[in-house]
Order: sequence, then structure tokens, then C-alpha cells
Amino acid sequence: MPFAPVRVLIVFYSYSGQSSVLIRRLAAGLLDEGVEVRQERLQPQQTLRFPLGSISKTLWLMFITLFRTRFAIQPLTLADDESYDMMVLAGPTWSWNPSGPVLALLDQYPGLFRQRSVLAVISCRGYWRSHWRYLRKRLLGMAANPCGPLVFSHPQREPWRTFGVFLKVAGMAPERSSSLFSRFYPRFGHTRQQCDEAYALGRQLAARLKTGSTQEQLRSFKNLP
Ligand SMILES: Cc1cc2nc3c(=O)[nH]c(=O)nc-3n(C[C@H](O)[C@H](O)[C@H](O)COP(=O)(O)O)c2cc1C
Repeated sequence: MPFAPVRVLIVFYSYSGQSSVLIRRLAAGLLDEGVEVRQERLQPQQTLRFPLGSISKTLWLMFITLFRTRFAIQPLTLADDESYDMMVLAGPTWSWNPSGPVLALLDQYPGLFRQRSVLAVISCRGYWRSHWRYLRKRLLGMAANPCGPLVFSHPQREPWRTFGVFLKVAGMAPERSSSLFSRFYPRFGHTRQQCDEAYALGRQLAARLKTGSTQEQLRSFKNLP
């Protein structure tokens, strides 16, 4: 009798494109190993333009997201009865928390997580721990099996990466600005190597799923010690 293919559901949000690039590569790794992948990108009900275009709007967004402000999302296109071997939940860190659209997803779709292994993928400037602590607690509260996380931090040094993200969201191009800044901040976001890492992790995850890993083994699927 033929084996049923391994199936993975990827639900993600990306504001400035970084999570979306990582997810594309992770999904490519899974697909290349014969895994069936279903992707669902969260769409906020109110469009959040990138870049915001001003410093005051950027400060405001960073301020309100400190309080875990929910950003209402459009209804998901998933059918209720679809079954998956694992779910991937990916998105950026916003003010030490999951992003507003992911918070709305957790509130509105608890049934999506119940009894599922959920691998968290986090794209951030570098400060992901409280994001993960909160997300893990919420997943456990919904009877999910929180796995990972896979964390991808912007590789530039501080304080350049903090200013870099801020200016980028505000609508400037710090990587092309004064010679001093661009020397320490040559590009915004993740590197080619990190995208390659996401691809390799997709293949490794596929191998684990195909060998029927236990919930315990899936929980420890991380890219950090
Ligand atoms: C409103 C806002 C708040 C942010 N807060 C944090 C933070 O607390 N910690 C961090 O490491 N990165 C933070 N970042 C940076 C993003 O997590 C980072 O740029 C990420 O790669 C963006 O992913 P995306 O392009 O998929 O949205 C913040 C970005 C925004 C827009």
C-alpha cells in the first residue's frame, strides 16, 4: 500500500519581507524532500504599508506593539478538515512580542493549534526570547506541542541594526546613506547564508517527519543551542 505523503501547513506573517523570504526557502527544502506544503499568509484587515514613511508613525507602531496590540486579520482560506503532520508558525518580533497579526490568529483560531506540533520560526533584529516565551505559553494553553524555535536574527552589530531597522521602517535607506552608517550597515535584514540555512532546515525537518519522529523529538528541532 502506498504511504501517505507527509504534509506541512505553514502559516506566516511578514511585514517587510524577511519572514517571507525565509519561509520560501524553508518550504523549498521541504518540497525538495517530497513533503506536501500548504502555505497561508496572514493578511491584516487594514493595510499596513511598508515602509511607513515617517519617524512619528514608526515610533507609534513600536509603542503600541509593546502592549501586544492585535492587528485583525482577514479570514483564513484553510478548510477545517485538512490534516497535517506539522504546522509552522512564522513571523517577525514586534516590540519583544509576536507581531499583531499573529496575536490575532492565536486569539481567533485556537482550534487550528489544538493537538498539533507547531514549529515557531522567528525573524528578528536579535531580541526574540520574550517573543518565544509568550508564544510558547499561548501554544501550551491551546494544547499544542510548541517546537523549536528556529530563530533568524539580523546579522549586523548593535547599535547599527537597531537604527537600521528603525530607519528602514520609517522609509529611509540606511544601507545607502552616509559612508559611516553604510560601512557598518551594508544591508537590511537577513543574509543569503541565512536563507540557505532555512533551506537546509527545511530538508532536515522533512527527514524528521518522514521517519515518524516523536513529539519530543520535534520539540527539540532548533537552530540555536
Ligand atoms: C514595529 C516593529 C517592532 C520591532 N521590534 C523588534 C524587537 O522587539 N526585537 C527585534 O529583535 N526586532 C524587532 N523588530 C525588527 C523585526 O523583527 C525584523 O526586522 C524582522 O526581520 C522583520 O520581519 P518581516 O520582514 O517578516 O516583517 C521590529 C520591527 C517592527 C516593524
